[in-house]
Amino acid sequence: MSLTPPAAVIVLAAGEGTRMKSRALPKVLHPIAGRSLVGHAVAAARELAPAQLAVVVGHLREKVVEHLAAEFPEAVPVVQEEQNGTGHAVRVALEALARDGRLGEGAVIVTTGDTPLLTGETLRHLAQAHAEDGNAATVLTAEVPDATGYGRILRGEDGRVRAIVEHKDATEAQREIREINSGVFAFDGKLLGEALSEVRTDNSQGEEYLTDTLQILREAGHRVGAVVAADHQDILGINDRVQLAQARRILNDRLLERAMRAGVTVVDPATTWFDVTVEYEQDAVVQPNTQLKGATRIGEGAEVGPNSTLTDTVVGAGASVSNTTAFEAEVAEGASVGPYAYLRPGTKLGAKGKIGTFVETKKAEIGPGSKVPHLSYVGDATIGEGSNIGAASVFVNYDGVNKHHTTIGDHCRTGSDNMFVAPVNVGDGAYTAAGSVIYQDVPAGALGVTRPQQRNVEGWVSRKRPGTAAARAAEAAQARRRDGSAESDAPSA
Ligand code: UD1
Ligand code: CA
Repeated sequence: MSLTPPAAVIVLAAGEGTRMKSRALPKVLHPIAGRSLVGHAVAAARELAPAQLAVVVGHLREKVVEHLAAEFPEAVPVVQEEQNGTGHAVRVALEALARDGRLGEGAVIVTTGDTPLLTGETLRHLAQAHAEDGNAATVLTAEVPDATGYGRILRGEDGRVRAIVEHKDATEAQREIREINSGVFAFDGKLLGEALSEVRTDNSQGEEYLTDTLQILREAGHRVGAVVAADHQDILGINDRVQLAQARRILNDRLLERAMRAGVTVVDPATTWFDVTVEYEQDAVVQPNTQLKGATRIGEGAEVGPNSTLTDTVVGAGASVSNTTAFEAEVAEGASVGPYAYLRPGTKLGAKGKIGTFVETKKAEIGPGSKVPHLSYVGDATIGEGSNIGAASVFVNYDGVNKHHTTIGDHCRTGSDNMFVAPVNVGDGAYTAAGSVIYQDVPAGALGVTRPQQRNVEGWVSRKRPGTAAARAAEAAQARRRDGSAESDAPSA
């Protein structure tokens, strides 16, 4: 049976999240696996293709609203001025949608902004069961090892859901129940609105509880049901940073498992971290202590890590990237990077190219087969194909005010310890001498040299540093040279 898209999904995210102890961020903006908590909720919700996707915001709402506009423009914020409870939050959202004429017939799914492990699949399962059973309300529940703090599911003799009682309002006997309310529901939209108008605040917290609607609907003769989550971890709610870390670990394990099942070797899952947005192809290998973030993509048979953090970086088939930090870089097929490289935005390394050890690059296009093997900075540069940049070279791109560009042609051989003072061009097939400061263009096929003459001051060490190890070594070498030349000068017997 195909699922009718719900009239709305309402994501509750107005609470303060006091236990996060955060001054900087509202709870729902804390990230795991490259997405905010509320982002995970919205991503799961949109898999249902709801006609409306509303997010109830309150505490630090400017930040949440700004975040949603930037990342999830399909999510419409609804402001709940005072946090008078989950029932109040849903009522505010329904009223806002109805006022704007945006609430159609059908199901309304309520979920929370702090359950990042809840998948679209579980939501779909809930919505499906809700529709098939013809319920007025269906709650997603879970059997948990420790139910402290959660609302408990009360079932009748017939096993059907009768009501939900909050931990704070529960009796000792009710607190023994391990089936809990996940905070996620499917409702008939119209009946939900009616039930919410009857919710009272005569409870220990003086709030409008959304959970009270179940009993109200049942007593009005409507069907109320429950779906038990297959995995209780799905509904893990984040209240503090300990749970944030637990959820991050669980989500990461899921992401790595998916990658491994798709043919990626993850050598050490304990120290490998993927964002939800990472992509990969078969036979990619991820070595220990590696983080892949954002829109990072690892091609077929490529090897990344160990000790690498790649953000929004594309690694081509068969390429290798080790001990590297990279942002917004592209490494083409068969290229190699590291160990110990820092690729900054705009780095594009061509096929079979090399960025080696202790090399930093920025806005640098390095052509196919070209190499920057050792100890260099390449910024604001274009390097053609098949060129080799000598060790310890610096692309001097900054005059203190502006950045300038350096172009190196195809099949160049630049010497070690060159400074390329931009703007400057080195033509195809040109060479430059070691130690040169290249501040003028080098024509194709020329050798560029800027090198002072060398002068050796004979005997300087013995005169100026007498008695040192250096002086003794020098004198011994001079003595050997004298003896050697004396021998070779001697007439042969
Ligand atoms: C709620 C449920 C409880 C369930 C638990 C699951 C109620 C009365 N209780 O309890 O049965 O086991 O979630 O985690 O529903 N929110 C608003 N506006 C408000 C109040 C809350 O948007 O006025 C949001 C919060 O930001 C949060 C969600 O609703 O995302 C749940 O609120 P919270 O205060 O955490 O409820 P719990 O006490 O955990
Ligand atoms: Ca909660």
